[in-house]
Amino acid sequence: MKIIRTAQELKKIRAENEGKTVGFVPTMGGLHAGHRSLMERNRAENDIAIASVYLNPTQFNDKKDLETYPANFDDDVKLLESVGIDYLFAPTYDVMYPDGYTYKLTETDFSHVLCGATRPGHFDGVLTVVMKLLNIVRPTRAYFGEKDFQQLQLLKGMVSAFFMDVEIVPCPIVREENGLAISSRNRKLSADGIRIAPRLHEILAGSGTIEEKKKSLSEAGFTVDYLEERRGRLFVAAFLEGVRLIDNIPL
Ligand code: PAF
Repeated sequence: MKIIRTAQELKKIRAENEGKTVGFVPTMGGLHAGHRSLMERNRAENDIAIASVYLNPTQFNDKKDLETYPANFDDDVKLLESVGIDYLFAPTYDVMYPDGYTYKLTETDFSHVLCGATRPGHFDGVLTVVMKLLNIVRPTRAYFGEKDFQQLQLLKGMVSAFFMDVEIVPCPIVREENGLAISSRNRKLSADGIRIAPRLHEILAGSGTIEEKKKSLSEAGFTVDYLEERRGRLFVAAFLEGVRLIDNIPL
């Protein structure tokens, strides 16, 4: 796997592979089994498989969340190599934001609810960085996990609104055997937290009204940010030991 640090270098590689199918999985590092499933699909479905690792500061409204984001570049490289990814794009802030983030992409409707309601600017950061990455990589297909379902919907909307030539491929949530959606943030939990965390999915998918489920989550030790039905799905975000966990299920 070749590690690429600049946009120019990656654009050159892309131009040399014109006519081939290119798959792309953008990540912020801290790769886990959920990412692995996206990478494997990328590898299986395309001539050239590209991934990126970039901890994007513009999508973090909470500085502490950014500083404590679990990431280990060497482990990420090992995982990507084991899947057979051809190119890893690992840029710096200056490479991604030559404009110093004076230009940004804003969605004014669905980005204001659910995660957007309590994380101001979060989706501006996500949409802007993904737009930049897609412009550099020009993939045939880009893969995103359904755990971040709101993000996935907003990215699909962006691609449609801006007539972008990329297929956004949704990938199912990868769960632990106990139902817990796999996330980089799970690594921030204590042994106690890890024991309680699966209750999030259990309660979400169990019976009861929204109010009853909120009560069950509080009793289990979560601080609920939201538990809401939207677009035929039930979405939840809740803090456990100060760690923000999210999940969603179809209704
Ligand atoms: O889902 C993520 O890891 C990030 O939001 C993404 C899409 C890589 C953009 O930084």
